[in-house]
Amino acid sequence: MIGTGAIGTAVARRLAGSGREVVVWNRTPERAVGTGARVAGSLAEAVEGGDLVLLTLKDHAAVRDCLARLPDLTGRTVVALTTGTAEDARAAERTVTAAGGSYLDAGVQTPPEAIGTDAATFLYSGPRAVFERHASTLALLGTPRFVGERADAAAVWDLALFGVWYDAQLGLLRALDGVRRAGIDVAAFAETAAPQIGHVVTGATATATELTCGEYPAGPADLTEHLTVIRHLIDLRRTGPLGDGGLHAVADRVESLIAGGRGGEGLTATVDG
Ligand SMILES: NC(=O)c1ccc[n+]([C@@H]2O[C@H](COP(=O)([O-])OP(=O)(O)OC[C@H]3O[C@@H](n4cnc5c(N)ncnc54)[C@H](OP(=O)(O)O)[C@@H]3O)[C@@H](O)[C@H]2O)c1
Repeated sequence: MIGTGAIGTAVARRLAGSGREVVVWNRTPERAVGTGARVAGSLAEAVEGGDLVLLTLKDHAAVRDCLARLPDLTGRTVVALTTGTAEDARAAERTVTAAGGSYLDAGVQTPPEAIGTDAATFLYSGPRAVFERHASTLALLGTPRFVGERADAAAVWDLALFGVWYDAQLGLLRALDGVRRAGIDVAAFAETAAPQIGHVVTGATATATELTCGEYPAGPADLTEHLTVIRHLIDLRRTGPLGDGGLHAVADRVESLIAGGRGGEGLTATVDG
């Protein structure tokens, strides 16, 4: 294991505590102690004896730094438990493959304190056979979810999940700010906001089905009706500190769909094609 920060320490403790033979290396050596794992004297020594190399590093710049110092990874599987972009994942795969190893990208969907519990979920992508070879070890960390053979699938999935949270939370913040500026009790408003988020939760699978099928029924409102509300929202958010949340771009898109004769379709049509 390379990196004993918050995630790395929790992972090392869990694996060592489960009886696995774990060797750790950390850039700052004094932070590598206390996990129950053996501490290696160098990066190369840490990867010498094991076929599974976990990179629990801050970011992909750190991943690149460490991989550059490991030119021979023959027979090893490298898993980056590190948040990054799709290109970060593809670059790491190219580097590891060129060094003779196999690469799995991972998304850490858990805080350190939940590692090793049922509340922890980890996303993995890369060659399925490689994932399956290490699945029993990876399952010790939390529920492993294999999300695709493309190296970048876990990074895209992981970031998209973060995006769902940011959009919902920032939408809530814009709403609370808007009503507060209008002199309305935000706590009372929040009680009515929660069910709105619930509608998105309830409809998530049906929305995904619409996308898969390429059919966009209007539901409770069609695009023409949505456009009226969206324009009012842009106006409400005009003076807020967080901008309109991209609603100008959405309004432009809806207008062009209406102009193309699709005003009777539902909101999912905005991402058609
Ligand atoms: N913590 C969370 O709740 C959480 C949740 C989900 C996802 N994640 C993701 O998990 C990853 C690890 O997070 P963390 O919370 O464990 O981070 P962290 O506590 O900041 O630890 C970062 C680790 O990276 C090492 N490092 C940084 N730059 C390096 C470099 N250039 N070369 C070698 N080592 C380097 C640090 O070594 P030093 O000790 O020498 O600085 C440390 O071991 C991140 O990608 C994070 O986004 C974290």
